[in-house]
Amino acid sequence: MIKAKKRIGILTSGGDCPGLNAAIRGAVRAAYEMFDAEIIGIHDGYRGLIEGDFSLMSRSQFSGILTLGGTILGTSRTPYRNMQKIEEDNVDKVAAMKKTYKNLKLDCLITLGGNGTHKTANLLSQEGLNIIGLPKTIDNDIYGTDFTFGFHTAIDIATECIDRLHTTAASHGRCIVVEIMGNKAGWLTLYSGVAGGADVILIPEIPYTMDKVVEIVRRRADNNKGFTILAVAEGAMELEESKMKKKERESKRAAEHFSSSAYVAAQLQELVGVEARSVVPGHIQRGGTPSAYDRVLSTEFGVHAAELIRDDIYGVTVALKGNTITHNALKDIAGIAKPVPMDDPMISTARNIGISFGD
Ligand code: F6P
Repeated sequence: MIKAKKRIGILTSGGDCPGLNAAIRGAVRAAYEMFDAEIIGIHDGYRGLIEGDFSLMSRSQFSGILTLGGTILGTSRTPYRNMQKIEEDNVDKVAAMKKTYKNLKLDCLITLGGNGTHKTANLLSQEGLNIIGLPKTIDNDIYGTDFTFGFHTAIDIATECIDRLHTTAASHGRCIVVEIMGNKAGWLTLYSGVAGGADVILIPEIPYTMDKVVEIVRRRADNNKGFTILAVAEGAMELEESKMKKKERESKRAAEHFSSSAYVAAQLQELVGVEARSVVPGHIQRGGTPSAYDRVLSTEFGVHAAELIRDDIYGVTVALKGNTITHNALKDIAGIAKPVPMDDPMISTARNIGISFGD
């Protein structure tokens, strides 16, 4: 029996992360192995799908990308909240995406992305397109999967930052406040804080008080520990701030011109009189080659996507549950956040070794 050719579109959307290329490679290589596949790369995420910006890709273009950071397809942030809005350019974005899909005669579209990407993927799926999502993000905040790819590499990078800051903090007897990415979810700060031996971990899910943080720093000083390492998530907030509406909190922050780490460092300097520094590794946490763990996970996710295409299963996103690579219905996971739950074992592990969450 001659197997029908499958035309597969692929796009990467939202913030990049290590492992995107490894996942693309996994999906494409497995597709070539399993059936007759033709791959169309959509440029810069949904922007390319809206504007019809794509290229027919050859097999050789997927060679040598396993270890490459970023994404060979390019990416962009095209917020879900605007997808169904007609803006100044007068473009009906959903209709445009459907048109590109139809013009390209795609059998399916693989979307690699985070929460926003999955919301749009679900919308397209409900509009009748065949969609398979792959969960990427250094934030690890996608519902329905234990881990996303990119997360473990970012833990390694953030941990190395903390390690290096540890030695200089110890030499100078300083407080170093390191700001770890994650606006809404503290997974990366939690894991890298534990891995890097931070004394204090502040995450968005556990509002802190400055009084408590000051107490920890003073207690360490009283115990002749001349330095303190604080791992603070981008989105960490004080108890008072956590009671504010999001807009109010954002305008307070904008008016203060303080990042979460700069605020904590300035407060410690003022309230305790210690020498404090804030360090923001920023996008370093998203750059460069994926770790071995992420190369494996990305490859497994990509291969599962190809299996789903082979079996004509769409409207799903790939997931890791325990040791099993599986998938969830897009409609069941899209739009659901995954903050660190209060009963997460890593929180009790941290507390049990004396790490403070400032609460
Ligand atoms: O979602 C990944 C992430 O790196 C977050 O941790 C961070 O808050 C955000 O993206 C930064 O976004 P941008 O790359 O657009 O500055």
